Amino acid sequence: MEFHDHAGNKVILTLDDQPDSNNKHVLIITNYNGKYLLTHNKFRGVEFPGGKVEQKETSLEAAKRELYEETGGVIDTIRYIGTYTVYAEPSFKKDVYYARISKIEEQDDYMETNGPVIVTKLDEVAESDKSFILNDDCINYIVGILQKDGEYD
Ligand code: GTP
Repeated sequence: MEFHDHAGNKVILTLDDQPDSNNKHVLIITNYNGKYLLTHNKFRGVEFPGGKVEQKETSLEAAKRELYEETGGVIDTIRYIGTYTVYAEPSFKKDVYYARISKIEEQDDYMETNGPVIVTKLDEVAESDKSFILNDDCINYIVGILQKDGEYD
């Protein structure tokens, strides 16, 4: 699938790929009791949790770490969905995971975020508070697949 992002860059999404942990970022689409568990990034606004894969870490480990650091969310189940490549300068890849969250533990420090934001619908986030992540066609396509599969019913 091909998309274009907010900056006009081409974005190619591959579903059912195997994650490889080279030069990667991760993004986690979350489900907490049928709601979305988001984080309020201090610079970008409200978005799905995510970040960079560190050295000696797999992309799955990074997804679990970033989710916990940015929201305090404890994972019940997590599965890999696919990878998208953003053809910016330089280009980069993001592995996308889908996680069901069983509980949220309060943290002293939410890193570069203000911590968890829980919404029933993504539209509840005011446009002025949204990170570009919540307006991204590729990411919203993935959320749409999960919704169609009944994950949020
Ligand atoms: P550095 O550490 O300086 O590389 O930046 P960062 O990773 O902290 O920055 P950030 O995550 O904000 O990414 C920088 C820019 O890359 C953003 O402003 C976006 O334009 C683009 N970008 C980052 N993540 C995504 C993504 O998931 N999709 C798209 N389309 N663009 C992204």
